[in-house]
Amino acid sequence: MFSANAVTRDFSRAASTYDAHGALQQQALAECARLLAPHVAKDAAVLDAGCGTGRLMEQGVNWRITGVDLAPGMCASAHARGMRVCAGDIAALPFPGAQFSGVLCSLVLQWLNAPAQALSELHRVCTGGASAALCVFEEGTLHELKAVAGKETRVSPFFTQGAIERMAQEAGWQVMQTHSRRVVEYYADARALFQRLKAIGATNKLAHRPRGLATPAWLARVDAHYRDAFGIDGVLPASWQLHFLLLQKVI
Ligand SMILES: C[S@@+](CC[C@H](N)C(=O)[O-])C[C@H]1O[C@@H](n2cnc3c(N)ncnc32)[C@H](O)[C@@H]1O
Repeated sequence: MFSANAVTRDFSRAASTYDAHGALQQQALAECARLLAPHVAKDAAVLDAGCGTGRLMEQGVNWRITGVDLAPGMCASAHARGMRVCAGDIAALPFPGAQFSGVLCSLVLQWLNAPAQALSELHRVCTGGASAALCVFEEGTLHELKAVAGKETRVSPFFTQGAIERMAQEAGWQVMQTHSRRVVEYYADARALFQRLKAIGATNKLAHRPRGLATPAWLARVDAHYRDAFGIDGVLPASWQLHFLLLQKVI
């Protein structure tokens, strides 16, 4: 189980560093916007579910965007970008009925205890015929870190292949398109990888995570194992398995 307090706290803290360290997240968001664009008319109402710092405002789309995010710090950044935004949980959306012609939800669902509930909520607030573009991290993401961090693992679980499609269908969505992409980044050492994860708010949020393990000795041990098992020319690879979906609410 994720701790909702940790999600709110860590992403709020990361709001000021997120953009500078979230290049991969930016690419995923842009890809979601490209996926959704042909299916949503100019000036249509679009919900950015888990909007983060509101970078959708800079994707050159002409929609009337409303953002919603659990972290007040993220909401403040999105608001500063000119996004109409409200604080809220996408698993219990603060909208009474169907009012959006499109939904974008990029790299959010993996932080929820009840992603299926969020997919139902997104379906509920959409009008018939609306489209949704999603991106989630699937298994394989940070597999190197998971392998070397061992029993003390600090890597959150990711969706198994096909799981998000099944949940979307059960929530009433029709799956129109899917595709996956693996991105590999390279870090000088394990510390640099952890610093980046912290800067984007992606630290461990499991409610029963082990505490007090991030000592210099622990970090040195992880770095040495990582280097032995996966090091390439002195750098450490970190894999991200991105999975994109285009959904439609069938009338
Ligand atoms: C990795 S960031 C992605 C932000 C944005 N979608 C982007 O692509 O830049 C994940 C965001 O999801 C938000 N989030 C996590 N759980 C949420 C929930 N249950 N309801 C709303 N927002 C949530 C976090 O606060 C954070 O801003």
